[in-house]
Amino acid sequence: NRPDVGPTQCVGPDYRSESQKPIATVSTEVNYETVTILPQTPQLIALLTKIRDRNTERADFIFYSNRIIRLLVEEGLNHLPVVEHTVTTPVGRNYAGLLFQGKICGVSIMRAGEAMEQGLRDCCRSVRIGKILIQRDEETAQPKLFYDKLPEDIADRWVLLLDPMFATGGSAIMAVEVLKSRGVPEERILFINLIASPEGIANFATKFPKLRVVTAFVDQGLDSKNYIVPGLGDFGDRFYTM
Ligand code: PRP
Ligand code: URA
Repeated sequence: NRPDVGPTQCVGPDYRSESQKPIATVSTEVNYETVTILPQTPQLIALLTKIRDRNTERADFIFYSNRIIRLLVEEGLNHLPVVEHTVTTPVGRNYAGLLFQGKICGVSIMRAGEAMEQGLRDCCRSVRIGKILIQRDEETAQPKLFYDKLPEDIADRWVLLLDPMFATGGSAIMAVEVLKSRGVPEERILFINLIASPEGIANFATKFPKLRVVTAFVDQGLDSKNYIVPGLGDFGDRFYTM
């Protein structure tokens, strides 16, 4: 019952020798300086295994997706600028630390992107969140823009763009065009997603070479309906309605 798609690797705790670690499919590597793939730890692979499993029911799908989203948001925050900041501790000593610099906001691509908002709120209290409603046509996979509502001062903010699935990249590209039309430079946008395809990443990198992407996994590719494979199916349906 070995995986039939994707690179494999021994994944397990470091105290085990390679021959004692189980083999699992890990993320495909990509050659873009702007793309960060989460470390392929046993924890991440086990969480992804849960949400990829067609037999995982909705409550578990939500629970395990939320755990991955939290890891992604925590990593995403590492890409924001920081400045030196020294504090004095209760025992009167100084600690040379850091402070985040600049204002941020989240922007979710509806519907599935809304599932990532809570993870962002859990890390960034009272963060502002804008919405862009883009839907892929089920036959052609072409994205269509229906609606957007964004913070007035979005041009002055770093934007964490949220959408769990990055397939052809069409929806994300359309969302970035909206953000750019409101004055957000691409180097201040960070696109956070759970599963990406190599095609989506390549399309995006060609169009927006300065935009950063943080993903949990780059999958093998797309099927004839432009679904990610092996993927996890329709994220929005599994999170909200199935
Ligand atoms: C899904 C997903 C992305 C898009 C990815 O949304 O959440 O927005 O497809 O595909 P792409 O990279 O090829 O554009 P969908 O339009 O199915 O709507 P949903 O959020 O309501 O599920
Ligand atoms: N949207 C999804 O939810 N899943 C895919 O595989 C592609 C687009």
